[in-house]
Amino acid sequence: MFGRVKPLDAILATAEKKSLHRSLGAFQLTMLGVGAVIGTGIFVLTAEAAQKAGPGMMISFIIAGFVCAVAALCYAEMAAMVPVSGSAYTYSYAVMGELVAWMVGWALILEYAIAAGAVSVGWSGYMIGFVQNSLHITVPLELVRGPFDGGLINLPAMGIAVVITGLLILGTKESATVNAVLVAIKIVALSLFIALTIPMIKAGNFQPFAPLGFTGISGAAASIFFAYVGFDAVSTAAEETKNPQRNMPIGLIGSLAICTVFYMLVAAGVIGTVGAQPVFGPGHVALSPGSPALSDACKAIGENAVVCSKEALAWTLRSVGHPMVGWLVGLAAILALPSVILMMMFGQTRIFFVMSRDGLLPEFFSKIHPRFHTPHVITLLTGVFVALFAAFFPVGLLADVSNSGTLFAFAAVSIAVLVLRRTDPTRKRPFRTPAVMIVAPISIVGCIYLFGSLSAATIQLFIGWAVLGLIVYYAYSRSRSHVGRGLTEVHEGDADLPPSSVPPID
Ligand code: ALA
Repeated sequence: MFGRVKPLDAILATAEKKSLHRSLGAFQLTMLGVGAVIGTGIFVLTAEAAQKAGPGMMISFIIAGFVCAVAALCYAEMAAMVPVSGSAYTYSYAVMGELVAWMVGWALILEYAIAAGAVSVGWSGYMIGFVQNSLHITVPLELVRGPFDGGLINLPAMGIAVVITGLLILGTKESATVNAVLVAIKIVALSLFIALTIPMIKAGNFQPFAPLGFTGISGAAASIFFAYVGFDAVSTAAEETKNPQRNMPIGLIGSLAICTVFYMLVAAGVIGTVGAQPVFGPGHVALSPGSPALSDACKAIGENAVVCSKEALAWTLRSVGHPMVGWLVGLAAILALPSVILMMMFGQTRIFFVMSRDGLLPEFFSKIHPRFHTPHVITLLTGVFVALFAAFFPVGLLADVSNSGTLFAFAAVSIAVLVLRRTDPTRKRPFRTPAVMIVAPISIVGCIYLFGSLSAATIQLFIGWAVLGLIVYYAYSRSRSHVGRGLTEVHEGDADLPPSSVPPID
């Protein structure tokens, strides 16, 4: 079962042969991380976390951040040691063999494609809030919310996914300059939010602190984990990094630390000013975020609670008498979230590309457009699915499903670190996970705990997806795998070049 391992030396030789310009330093990597991480999680899911945990969501942010930090320490060891594309998928291929790698790659589809859908829905919430509250145009709810959220179809979310797909097909990559500007916009927006709300905090708003007990806090942690997803995008840039041995860990852990501080302060600002108590149904029943029941309960109270808002931070600022800054924070989200969608979709096409290069997915998938030189087939396919997810599903469900895939991948990387320490102890490790015998198991247990705290529906969806993955693997990928057919060496040379330039295999 674990037999088909892709030799680590062959993978590393790929990196050596490649001539990608190593231009990113620790600062740019940290900015890349912050750019990929801050998004829908803090701007939108704060409301979902409040509905699940009330003010106790502060603890949820700490738990999710902690699990991410230990996973990041494991990621950093692998990223520095195997600085090549494909992140968790590639590491697993080298350490635990093809089947595990396939399942990790399959789970990464959830992480990237579904996350892109979630961020699209988050963007739509801010866009509609902006149009209604700042431009004073009334929008029919049926066309801007999915069927679970009291509407029919979320057209703006679908629209932004289509636009980003188009940009990716045309060859848009986020330039370091654009990323730096967007990171600045996000940081300024969150700083303004913090500066205005923290002085207005009322201690009473933190009571009752955990209206739904520790179960609620764990559930919120599992959802808010989404707010930290994306730091692993840093590890996919390993091949373009100067001195990756030193800079990767700084980029991974630095971006995570910056985000955690901001999230804690923003959460405190929301709770302390407008309160963050859940909305209950008849008979004090806890209502699930993104459910028709919550949508009805919110309508009954005139949407007058932060948990009902699709643009939690802008709503909070308007409620505490800062409509102008609420307007600016909304604008910041509208400008900055598309770049998170772009990075997620780009990450997805990159993972598909590597999997197709290894023969596990059809080579047709990574066909390159003759004029734009982009993998247009796979980008289009990804785009269609992202647009459909965005059109019909609520942000919370999409984020939770995405988290299930991410947690699986993080756990696999943490196991890989431990396995490799045992099987290949002498290999040079430019960054060693500190106290790996404690940190890696904590990371594995943390991922399992958060996974188990996801809703039953999410866990069932993940299991269904995993079973489908196994079927695809045994029906298609296993017999076509390049490693399985002994073609590792031939195919390693092409690295990230388009498949059209690869010599024929057969
Ligand atoms: N962490 C990213 C976000 O919150 C995915 O949008």
